[in-house]
Amino acid sequence: MSALPDVEGARLAPTLVGADIAVPLVTGASRRYVNLDYAASTPALTEVAQAVAEFLPWYSSVHRGAGFKSQVATAAYEGAREEVRRFFGARLDDAVLFVRNTTDAINLLASALPERTEVLAFGAEHHADMLPWRRRGLEVTYLAIPTSPAGVLDQLETALRRSHSGPRLVAVTGASNVTGEVWPIPELAALAHANGARVLLDGAQLAPHFPIDVTAWGVDYLAVSGHKMYAPFGAGALLGRPDWLTNDAPYLRGGGAVDFVTLDSVLWAALPERQEAGSPNVVGAVAMGAACRALAGYGMAHLADEELALAAYARNRLATIPGLELYALWDVGAPRLGIVAFNLRGYWHSELAAILSAEHAVGVRHGCFCAHPLVLHLLRIAPSEAGVIRAEIAGGDRGHVPGAVRASMGLGTTRADVDALHAALASLAASGPGWRYRLDRTTGEYLPEPEPRTWPTLPIALSGSAGVHGESS
Ligand SMILES: Cc1ncc(COP(=O)(O)O)c(C=O)c1O
Repeated sequence: MSALPDVEGARLAPTLVGADIAVPLVTGASRRYVNLDYAASTPALTEVAQAVAEFLPWYSSVHRGAGFKSQVATAAYEGAREEVRRFFGARLDDAVLFVRNTTDAINLLASALPERTEVLAFGAEHHADMLPWRRRGLEVTYLAIPTSPAGVLDQLETALRRSHSGPRLVAVTGASNVTGEVWPIPELAALAHANGARVLLDGAQLAPHFPIDVTAWGVDYLAVSGHKMYAPFGAGALLGRPDWLTNDAPYLRGGGAVDFVTLDSVLWAALPERQEAGSPNVVGAVAMGAACRALAGYGMAHLADEELALAAYARNRLATIPGLELYALWDVGAPRLGIVAFNLRGYWHSELAAILSAEHAVGVRHGCFCAHPLVLHLLRIAPSEAGVIRAEIAGGDRGHVPGAVRASMGLGTTRADVDALHAALASLAASGPGWRYRLDRTTGEYLPEPEPRTWPTLPIALSGSAGVHGESS
């Protein structure tokens, strides 16, 4: 696969696997699926699927195999690593580690931080950049959810001045997975460094939509997920400074991470092998490398411009619907990705999402998006109310779990898709749903009643029935 030229006028439009798929409606009709759930997982780029299909006949074990196919597979795996390094502008001596996803990457980093590292994280983070820090040996300080990009820097400066003088890590998202604002990362990194702290950029949301330059931005660590970068084959990556990653025993212990083992000693291997114990996800890594190559070919700055314009269009369009509340961390001063979170008066979030799917073929996500503190803040839910909800959930009743609906966009999303969402919401605001729905209190989901849709025929087993799903990320 060759890179596409990043030259004005010479770009080809990105194509995605499954872009034209039609899905059944409860009415018995079927309609082209309007995918507005990119922030959770993106479809595969056609080039990525092609690269995987071309690589699969060559797939074999990596690193230890003497056979020719093993050598080709190893070269592809290591080639993918360099592709990822280049795409994110990482330093030559940065480790580039293949992991499962951003969650895995951040847990790996948390396991490698020096004893008593203080982690500073904002309350707006995804749980993946919040929970890994709550472990023995680390101290975590949560900063209040900022009300502007300037507030991010002010709060951080105050917190860094108060923090201890030992190792410190500022762990921050590149863009909100709930409301889409892009955070001021280069400025934040400069501030952190001026105060002796390092920076982890949770790039799960930013990476597929916006150019990231680890070196120019002064980011020390970057965590990303392939399945959000048009490469849904189960790999992610952690990039960054090698020293802390070799301080101690690795995150995973096992074959591949060692140079020599006796019954009472281990000689750990150098990076990256040291942090990649077990047989790696070679196909996933190749897919990520192919995605980086394809995205670089399309030109990330160009893709970002298009997506930011689409995001503004979507926000302006949805704001015209009576009774629709749009959520935002801050309204001005920062670019905003194509992520729009909202509620519509008269509808519970899970009900609205179910109706959009069942009657309009619009695929969105609803709930708290693995960012419970942020969503409680946006919905202005008091701690006492949150306590009641927590007790209800613990008792098996999810009927009152608060949340919002999130429409999220990416490559291949068009104004027509936004218009389809707008038309569906406008008709719901004006005339209500055209079907009946019942709340399942154990899941918190609304289900069409009756549910006439059935699964498509696929050469794999499909369990459960249509319309039943779980916690949203
Ligand atoms: C900002 C952010 N960070 C981290 C994650 C976790 O990513 P993954 O589920 O791929 O580990 C997500 C997923 O939605 C996210 O949006």
